[in-house]
Amino acid sequence: MSRMMKLDQSGVQAAVDVLADGGLVAIPTETVYGLAADATNGEAVASIFAAKGRPHFNPLIAHVSDLDMAKRYVQFDAVSEALGHHFWPGPLTLVLPLLPANEGHNIHPLATAGLETLAVRMPQGAVRDIIRQFDRPISAPSANRSGRISPTSAEAVAEDLGGRVDLILDAGACEVGLESTIVKVEGDALYLLRPGGLAAEEIEAFTGKPLLRLDQRAAIQAPGMLKSHYAPNAQMRLNVDAVHAGEALLAFGQTRVQGHEKAVATLNLSESGNLREAAANLFDYMKKLDTYGAATIAVEPIPVSGLGEAITDRLARAAAPRD
Ligand code: TXA
Ligand code: MG
Repeated sequence: MSRMMKLDQSGVQAAVDVLADGGLVAIPTETVYGLAADATNGEAVASIFAAKGRPHFNPLIAHVSDLDMAKRYVQFDAVSEALGHHFWPGPLTLVLPLLPANEGHNIHPLATAGLETLAVRMPQGAVRDIIRQFDRPISAPSANRSGRISPTSAEAVAEDLGGRVDLILDAGACEVGLESTIVKVEGDALYLLRPGGLAAEEIEAFTGKPLLRLDQRAAIQAPGMLKSHYAPNAQMRLNVDAVHAGEALLAFGQTRVQGHEKAVATLNLSESGNLREAAANLFDYMKKLDTYGAATIAVEPIPVSGLGEAITDRLARAAAPRD
């Protein structure tokens, strides 16, 4: 079993010690729990992939404590820097060109899958103290086994990865509940590589520019965006207008679909139709509905504006055919 500690001062110190030893720490961020290792230590990064059972070496997000730390590794354009100033710490990841290795950066190539860019994010909360004290970036994908639902609580991490990680830090439920929004600036254009916990509209309002969505073919830009992902054991049926006998129901808002009384279990992402609340509940409720053993989870329609874009993206991945 993995050691579990609260994210207090001694938890921070224990995490720094584990990271310095090349070990793995599950860290609570505002989005989801991450599986963290020293981004400059190739063996430590390799053990992230081993613990997750990831089939591919997807590039990982480097988590920094402040803008100065980020600037030791990547080159900021003016728009990315303004975005960092405005939205960090928070659920935004910026993809930026790495400084040449001979100019001093020592991010391990396994952490970037050999790309010349680095995805950087400054997470919210006490987890930043770990990075500040460690004084170098930590790589952290979501702390789940490959293909499983991202964890939004320490218990969910322990269930999925217990024994495969040296230390799990517990800070309760994640406030946002969805992974960060990933953005890349290219010349004058802004690309949304992954919808996430910061609504695209907020980024557009701040920059005054449209966030260009990538189509499926261009999804190579964010190579970790596997089509099937976040999968519960049950099949997912989205946007339903009726519940079939034996299905579990993932509801949203005040009005229920036809046949809802037939559902073996119902959980409502947000009674009041609040997308923020729905995002925070999404992964947890998919997991909980899975425990009823229904073959299918029916999902009520969810609006696609604001955080609804990321919620429907994750639901579509959970519903995608699996190989
Ligand atoms: O909220 C989050 O972002 C969480 C927490 C733990 O910080 N982390 C997370 O990491 O979701 P992960 O590994 O599950 O997703 C990272 C995504 C992948 O889709 C990956 O392909 C993309 O970031 N990515 C990483 N580096 C990239 C790069 N240089 N260029 C484009 N995409 C990149
Ligand atoms: Mg993930």
